[in-house]
Amino acid sequence: MTVKIKQNEARIKSPEFQENFRNYEEVLKTFREKLAEVSSHSSETAVEKHRERGKLLARERINLLIDPQTPFLELSSFAAYNQYGNAFPSAGIITGIGVVNGRECLIIANDATVKGGTYIRETIKKHVRAQEIARQNKLICIYLVDSGGIYLPEQANVFPDRFDFGRVFYNQARMSAEGIPQISVVMGSCTAGGAYVPAMSDETIMVRNQATIFIGGPPLVLAATGEEVTAEELGGAEVHTSISGVADHIAEDDVDALRICRNIVAGLPVQEKQKIDIQPAKEPLFSSEELYGLLSADLKKPINAHAIINRLVDGSEFQEFKANYGKTLATGFARIWGFPIGIVANNSYLTSESSLKGAHFIQLCVQRKIPLLFLQNITGFIVGKKYEHGGIARDGAKLINAVANAAVPKFTVVIGGSFGAGNYAMAGRSFDPHFLFMWPHSRISVMGGEQASGVLKSIGNNGSEDKLLEQFNEESSAYYSSSRLWDDGIIDPADTRKVLAMAISVSLNRQFGEPGYGVFRM
Ligand code: COA
Repeated sequence: MTVKIKQNEARIKSPEFQENFRNYEEVLKTFREKLAEVSSHSSETAVEKHRERGKLLARERINLLIDPQTPFLELSSFAAYNQYGNAFPSAGIITGIGVVNGRECLIIANDATVKGGTYIRETIKKHVRAQEIARQNKLICIYLVDSGGIYLPEQANVFPDRFDFGRVFYNQARMSAEGIPQISVVMGSCTAGGAYVPAMSDETIMVRNQATIFIGGPPLVLAATGEEVTAEELGGAEVHTSISGVADHIAEDDVDALRICRNIVAGLPVQEKQKIDIQPAKEPLFSSEELYGLLSADLKKPINAHAIINRLVDGSEFQEFKANYGKTLATGFARIWGFPIGIVANNSYLTSESSLKGAHFIQLCVQRKIPLLFLQNITGFIVGKKYEHGGIARDGAKLINAVANAAVPKFTVVIGGSFGAGNYAMAGRSFDPHFLFMWPHSRISVMGGEQASGVLKSIGNNGSEDKLLEQFNEESSAYYSSSRLWDDGIIDPADTRKVLAMAISVSLNRQFGEPGYGVFRM
């Protein structure tokens, strides 16, 4: 322990640490500014109009819904960022996890100040992703509905495909069948296909003189049938709670509706969580802010996995597995906020040895029912004749097999670069980790920009290298990724412990599966 503390004192005094720290403060400043920008609920005029109607803003509604003084883990705040001329902050929808009457719930709230809460491609992706999280973690779903349905000019990108708007209702039906409660609070308009969000819910609340649900609004009805009718007469709260039966409870205003929703959640049956050995939480020996000094904006510089782990885990205690073998991957057991966790962290590219070690370690965690944390900083698998002859693809396949079939919750944090097949082997998005977060400086792409332009050059495609380099730089940024929902959000490295603790706690709502793998190529 004293050795660790002494080593750390030397480390934080080093010029490299100091320089990294100063540079990272800039990275964080940009991150916080961008986050404030996307969290500002669109234009002031839209916000004013919303308030004049006696409505609360989406984030205010969430704050009132969750238990006082409890955190809300907001997901994908940067959805649609730098797309559509930034007309859709957070893609016009807020999703995340909060505690309601002591129960962890997945909350999806339309932001009606953003183009009437209508859905573009990223809004749908965010809604569907949130439902996937609810399903994977067996979380009660609460929909705070205030939406004009599909954003019509984008219909081709949101309507017909497998994971488009229809998926929202399919997911509701499937989750309801699995006993995952679906609750809607209609606090504004709910038009056309959108009408099925409350209609497909197990229980639905509507706000008097404010909420409407209809398959076709008054203008459409007039055009189609010549019938003249007001929105309230057509599908207001009074109509649906006393005539049609589409909704179940009528509320006087937003606050009342949220109170009714909290009461519904309080009455839901409590499900048993997965049993794991939880100990009292301990702070790490070293401050989380010190992480900034360990990260260089130059991703070619190595990141010391052990130093990062020391700042994430309880008491900085890391019980390493195979410390002297396959050293380009660090594996070992630790705790985060008292929860046991198996950590798989890159210390460089993946070799045959480190792949075998990773696969072995994952089997241990699955056998012992310990969730897995992947810390990604990976340029890929090692290349070259010697390694191909040694069967790197065969050993890499074992790791990928183990990751794909690991029957425990998986959490991935991209702490540096995430390039090439290394992304897959380290539980990238396609491997269904329960949550995937990125640090603000991190990058993700098929390979680094310089390597990509080198490849193009070597195949005789000269002249386009600079353009490709520029393209790769833009497309690999964490903001580009988050804008397209390739991750669940960008987080401040210093918040990682807190975010992971919440994610692990949430994952215990579903019982872990039994170990089972495909054929390991030997
Ligand atoms: N497609 C495209 N744009 C839409 C839209 C839709 N379905 N619904 C609203 N908008 C846009 C409006 O054009 C407006 O854009 P602007 O800010 O650039 O001027 C913005 O969203 C806000 O709409 P507005 O009507 O001013 O706000 P509101 O709060 O008074 O009303 C709605 C919101 C959703 C009730 C109303 O706009 C509406 O009924 N929209 C049509 C709903 C519909 O028929 N949807 C069917 C598609 S499935």
